Amino acid sequence: MLILLKIATMSFLDQIDNIKLPQHIAIIMDGNGRWAKQKGKLRVFGHQNGVKAVREALEGCVKANIKFLTLYAFSAENWNRPKLEVMALMELLVTSLKKEIKTFQENGVRLNVIGDITKLPSNAQRKLQETIEATKENTHCTLTLALSYSSRQEIVDAARNLAQQVKDGKLNADEINDELFAANLYTQNLPDPDLLIRTSGELRISNFLLWQIAYSELCFLDKMWPEFTKEDLFKSIVEYQQRERRFGKTSEQL
Ligand code: IPE
Ligand code: IPE
Ligand code: MG
Repeated sequence: MLILLKIATMSFLDQIDNIKLPQHIAIIMDGNGRWAKQKGKLRVFGHQNGVKAVREALEGCVKANIKFLTLYAFSAENWNRPKLEVMALMELLVTSLKKEIKTFQENGVRLNVIGDITKLPSNAQRKLQETIEATKENTHCTLTLALSYSSRQEIVDAARNLAQQVKDGKLNADEINDELFAANLYTQNLPDPDLLIRTSGELRISNFLLWQIAYSELCFLDKMWPEFTKEDLFKSIVEYQQRERRFGKTSEQL
């Protein structure tokens, strides 16, 4: 009886194998609008409640000792949403950064950003820079927010950068390889994600980290983002650890 009770209350955290931890988890945080609609509320209500789930994901990563967490918060394509929704999201970014700085410092979280943040309102850019600066010495976990992010644009930028170096005579075209290309992406200081999670039941990538997820394990959850908890993160890590990553080899070779 006692054993049954113990199993019932066991967290997926206890099932995580600390030797096979993913180094980097990326999440497509999707489903805020539908979650709100199901409740008869406005989409913005979903975004507001999505902030709690961000905290869950971040604290879960800190607990499980995950070194890199990357969150898709706003895509380049999301600029095409109704103006009011975009404005509400930008405001939410600023208020959340103000509030969460405490969580970052307490948990040793360093903030990083990828994407074209010059498109963001100036108060959001300022707050991001301030928070990046204030957390730059933290070493426990790197939280990267993808904002105004397009993976295709990132790849185009890298190609343009390399082409310019060739044109300037600083680089030979035949020196361009995987490694050099990756070093010209916005994610140059991050390892590739081992695990990519998307909530909301949608089975697509939506222009996120196309180069970097070449060999990531994909995990699609039916839950909407505001319902995401630490346990969902731990459970996904356990599922990840049950997969066999072969990188083109046979099982026998591993
Ligand atoms: C994810 O939720 C948040 C952002 C893209 C900013 P959505 O707003 O996409 O919610 P759904 O997918 O419409 O339900
Ligand atoms: C992807 O979600 C972008 C973010 C989670 C920020 P979307 O809701 O914008 O993706 P699509 O349009 O359904 O593919
Ligand atoms: Mg969506």
